[in-house]
Amino acid sequence: MTEHVGEKNTLQRKTFAAYVSAFAATAALLAGCTSEVEATTPRTTTATPTTETSTPIPTSTEIPRPTSTRTTTPIETVTAIPPAPTEIEQPPATIDCLVQKCIALTFDDGPSPYTGQLLDDLAAHDAKATFFVVGNRIAQYADTVREIRDGGHQLANHSWRHDNLTSIGAAAAAADIARTNTEIFNHTGVTPEIMRPPYGATNQTVIDAVDMPQIMWSVDPEDWKYRDSNYVANHVISNAKRGDIVLMHDIHPTTVNAVPRILSTLRSDGYQLVTVDTLLGTNLPTAKYSRQPLG
Ligand code: NI
Repeated sequence: MTEHVGEKNTLQRKTFAAYVSAFAATAALLAGCTSEVEATTPRTTTATPTTETSTPIPTSTEIPRPTSTRTTTPIETVTAIPPAPTEIEQPPATIDCLVQKCIALTFDDGPSPYTGQLLDDLAAHDAKATFFVVGNRIAQYADTVREIRDGGHQLANHSWRHDNLTSIGAAAAAADIARTNTEIFNHTGVTPEIMRPPYGATNQTVIDAVDMPQIMWSVDPEDWKYRDSNYVANHVISNAKRGDIVLMHDIHPTTVNAVPRILSTLRSDGYQLVTVDTLLGTNLPTAKYSRQPLG
């Protein structure tokens, strides 16, 4: 905001002299050929450095004609510019988190009876999220899992039954994650690309055995402990910043009820709410990630 003020003041000072000459030039043109001047006057003002709209002597007062004769030929070359692109089906605008301010909201341990409400709230705020679902809950909430997919959200793996993967052995950990991937695929046709170990508990053995990117988090309102929508919303709103991954759980109604205010606040603060793959990219190397690396 403030950096534009100085720039504008300088512009205003510079432009007064330019206005004087533009005024003279316009008057001279008006004397000769009114119809041509009418078509080109709005362009001549922007062609000169006098781009101000706030200063007092607008050339419009010199132009006697109303704007109704706008259909003269010179203007058509301007309005006829965009041809085919509007007729082609445009894909949804892609979000580039290297350019735009992005935050990834993630929801673990579901699906649950509250997930549907959460999906409605996300849709109402044009927000996408990532759902780390638990494998043995999927059959019971198969419709919800497909709703997650259909809403453009990301389905991700949170193990079969929320075991601590560091304590069950490498082979069991690998089998657990593979089984959950299969279950998600069987109900949705989606093969998850990322996983989150239950409790965030992992080590190199698990990382090697599972061989999937492990997504941790950088903002944690501890919503499992604070079953208080205001607390959860306030924590996320005051801590989440560009590039963060926010950990929440859609099995708690208090968390789901916190989400609308989180969404409306972060959206009005200019954040894009995106899936983890939009934030971090796809085809991630097998490693641990907790936020978007920003330079
Ligand atoms: Ni969990």
